[in-house]
Amino acid sequence: MRIQIINGPNLNLLGRREPGIYGSSSFEDYLPQLRNRYPQYQIDYYQSNVEGELINKMQEVGFTYDAIVLNAGAYTHTSIALHDCIRALKCPVIEVHISNVHQREEFRHHSYLSSACRGVICGFGLESYRLAIEAILNA
Ligand code: DQA
Repeated sequence: MRIQIINGPNLNLLGRREPGIYGSSSFEDYLPQLRNRYPQYQIDYYQSNVEGELINKMQEVGFTYDAIVLNAGAYTHTSIALHDCIRALKCPVIEVHISNVHQREEFRHHSYLSSACRGVICGFGLESYRLAIEAILNA
């Protein structure tokens, strides 16, 4: 089982960025815990602030990996290109958000990605990523 986690713009700042919303742990600190919990699975991680680079990575792994866990950050709310990419792939994509976007500003309530994704998990902090992996394993 190979799972690719992809984080979009500004998520490289986790731990420093608005800790009241996103928590005080960096993704690099969280990732080893996630890998320790699922030692039998290959969990790869990629982050980019650039929309096209996210698409390149999704196309690279999306025909051979078992699943992609995607937090596209603000591109969630803007990107038809990411929507089209998700639809083009063979593997399921789980949309993840750390915060509960529905409790926040109205512009975060709409996702261009959800309709193309296998499912959506939001609002559980970094544990949203683990819950997405659980969903994949139980799907
Ligand atoms: C986010 C929510 C988005 O609205 C925001 O733009 C992000 C992070 C989240 O994980 O809660 O960058 O995807």
